[in-house]
Amino acid sequence: MGKFPKDFLWGGATAANQCEGAYNEGGRGLSSVDVVPFGPDRFPVALGQLKMLDCDAEHFYPSHEAIDMYHHFKEDIKLFAEMGFRCYRLSIAWTRILPNGDDAQPNEEGLRFYEELFDECHKYGIEPLVTLCHFDTPIALIKKYGGWKDRRMVDAYAHYCEVLFQRFRGKVKYWLTFNEINMLLHMPFMGAGLLFAPGENVQQVKYQAAHHELVASAKAVKLAHAIMPDAMVGCMLAAGQFYPRTCAPADVQAAAEADRDNYFFIDVQSRGEYPVWAKKRMERAGIALQTEPGDEQLLKEGTVDFISFSYYSSRCTTVDPELMNKASGNAIMDAVKNPYLKASDWGWAIDPVGLRITMNSLYDRYQKPLFIVENGLGAVDKVEADGSIHDTYRIDYLRAHIEQMEKAINEDGLPLLGYTTWGPIDLVSASTGEMKKRYGFIYVDKDNEGKGTLARSRKDSFYWYKKVIASDGEDL
Ligand code: BG6
Repeated sequence: MGKFPKDFLWGGATAANQCEGAYNEGGRGLSSVDVVPFGPDRFPVALGQLKMLDCDAEHFYPSHEAIDMYHHFKEDIKLFAEMGFRCYRLSIAWTRILPNGDDAQPNEEGLRFYEELFDECHKYGIEPLVTLCHFDTPIALIKKYGGWKDRRMVDAYAHYCEVLFQRFRGKVKYWLTFNEINMLLHMPFMGAGLLFAPGENVQQVKYQAAHHELVASAKAVKLAHAIMPDAMVGCMLAAGQFYPRTCAPADVQAAAEADRDNYFFIDVQSRGEYPVWAKKRMERAGIALQTEPGDEQLLKEGTVDFISFSYYSSRCTTVDPELMNKASGNAIMDAVKNPYLKASDWGWAIDPVGLRITMNSLYDRYQKPLFIVENGLGAVDKVEADGSIHDTYRIDYLRAHIEQMEKAINEDGLPLLGYTTWGPIDLVSASTGEMKKRYGFIYVDKDNEGKGTLARSRKDSFYWYKKVIASDGEDL
């Protein structure tokens, strides 16, 4: 194995709504993901097809308690430190800071919670990497404005960011503006608080909301740099190269277009302007973006410092309508099964080489430092009679991906700031709401129905990752 860069940020990543719980404690307001239930209604609500803006007694809402990290964070960060983490990616819940999303005065209790959490990280030399918005739009703003379809979200978000930058300057250097910003197109309610009226041009609404998020992201970058000159602000993409199902030129073209669609947001956030093809595509789809004078300038001035992304699998596409109809290669995006790859229990293709391919595509396109802020295997774990958990499948998955990451650094020469695996501690699955789909090095005793003691324990992968970090990737 070649060497990893000095100060490489090894660590793990979580999101507030999937781990904190305490959804109505400490003055926190309700956010979009709090009304996305477990069970058959989950996808219709997350996709904006079934309107739900409050909780009811018939549904179970996984975010409400999650793994109760709100009350366990000291214990959890101590375990991260035991593994040798140098970085912990977490998100701040917007409604813990501004319960209604746009309150003039922030909620001191919410600010204090994160302050203590950052202090706890620094106590162990762990660098926090903060996502400003991870699938949580304040419900009050969805009721008031219809979520990100309304321009006024830009100022609400900018105000929220400014509160955080002022308070946490000196404590947080690395920031991400929106988690998986491209998921707005695939899970519009969960991603951006969008609901659609019958007959409404769905594409128009989505791309208008996208424009607002892009302007908001640019504003946040500018604000961060003005308030914290050392800050590094990144975008965040749900990445994964699209492969053509065959080498038929039409399939190759389809894969190239699918990739471009996926890169759309990052093109704007990194290059500071809409790509030409996107303008043409929008014209053809009858999308007329409403913009304001100054937007173009703002997008140019608010470009990101680095490109962060999640990578779980590559994707595969084709123009063959029959295969596309049976699409089963990815739960959320249109993709077909790749016959050369095995898949996880949830059907996500396992493709370590795809990570290297994806990294090279991103660097070729943007020439900015990369940061892998999510990667991991969602799997069912078995607890043995003595409490041990032998998750060799997880170790195998991560090892194979780290090997490819190392090649991307040492053979391809790519600058990579760090690697934070998804869910270093078991947490709620974003797509299915399950606890059974586990990613952690740390096991949490809780099941899909919400039962369990919430006790934490170390899996085999815990000791393995500790050794990986201690040897700086030498001992895999
Ligand atoms: C990413 C999200 O999409 O993938 C996370 O940023 C999510 O929030 C992760 O948890 C894994 O997906 P899932 O559906 O298995 O939880």
